[in-house]
Amino acid sequence: MKIATVGKGGSGKTTIAGILARIFAERDQHILAIDGDPNPNLALTIGMSREDADRIAYIPSNLMQRIEGPDGIATLQLTHSQDEIMARYSHKAANNVDLIVMGKPADGSAGSGCMCASHRAVRGLITELTNIGEHTITDMEAGLEHLKRGTARNVDLMLIVAEPYYRSLEAAMRTHKLCVELAIPFIRVVANKVRNDEDRLAIESFCTQHGIDIIGVVPLDDAMMEAEREASSPFDFAPESAGVTGIRNLADAIDGLGRSRSKVSRADEAVLPPAS
Ligand SMILES: Nc1ncnc2c1ncn2[C@@H]1O[C@H](COP(=O)(O)OP(=O)(O)OP(=O)(O)O)[C@@H](O)[C@H]1O
Ligand SMILES: [Mg+2]
Repeated sequence: MKIATVGKGGSGKTTIAGILARIFAERDQHILAIDGDPNPNLALTIGMSREDADRIAYIPSNLMQRIEGPDGIATLQLTHSQDEIMARYSHKAANNVDLIVMGKPADGSAGSGCMCASHRAVRGLITELTNIGEHTITDMEAGLEHLKRGTARNVDLMLIVAEPYYRSLEAAMRTHKLCVELAIPFIRVVANKVRNDEDRLAIESFCTQHGIDIIGVVPLDDAMMEAEREASSPFDFAPESAGVTGIRNLADAIDGLGRSRSKVSRADEAVLPPAS
């Protein structure tokens, strides 16, 4: 499945994306992780050292170009083949996890350079890199910009990471609406940094009220922050912690969704007439 994490700044998108990648990888699934944040830090959460993460070559922002066909109709296409992209720009972030990083355009310091081309490049990667592994996991920038630009249009499962306070939940609701407009097949909330039953019930009642499905609940866990202070992945630093366990349960639920999806598509195939 093509999975992406979205949500308000600091809600835990990168933490969830990076640890999910490691959990699937541990289950012998090959994962392509895409850091779609111009301030990238997915590499560290997956478990790369800071020195290795600093050496990563960002994908060029002109990876998607408008190419005019013989009929005069222009389409956006990747300027490199899938094999070339993987050979030049993917990095082994952990066993079974390849990582591609969007980064900032070479000519733009934070907040200045135009990010349109970079967003297009990420959209191209999500759309075209289809058979790299079992799952593609893209960590998105905070806010709604990438959804408005359609960067995440071809995602199968959108994980909206929400914290148990009103503004975060309101943002999750707005994000959900945009995902519905983009016709993303599976849209689910991950409740993160949940302190107690009261927090969990608050998120559940908000989501029920707005017709939003929750796929996982991850507790607030000091081990996550300690791991960050140690510049280590929580997956390596505290593999049995409550936070990592919550994300393991999330991975189980995603596997369940994947299985139900492939059952549905097999049922669809069964009613199709045989290919001539
Ligand atoms: N379940 C959790 N318990 C405790 N701390 C957490 C949890 N999840 C994430 N954090 C901490 O919250 C902070 C923000 O997490 P993270 O960087 O994953 O968020 P983000 O949504 O990717 O942020 P940004 O919008 O800046 O990209 C980090 O310090 C991280 O360690
Ligand atoms: Mg992040």
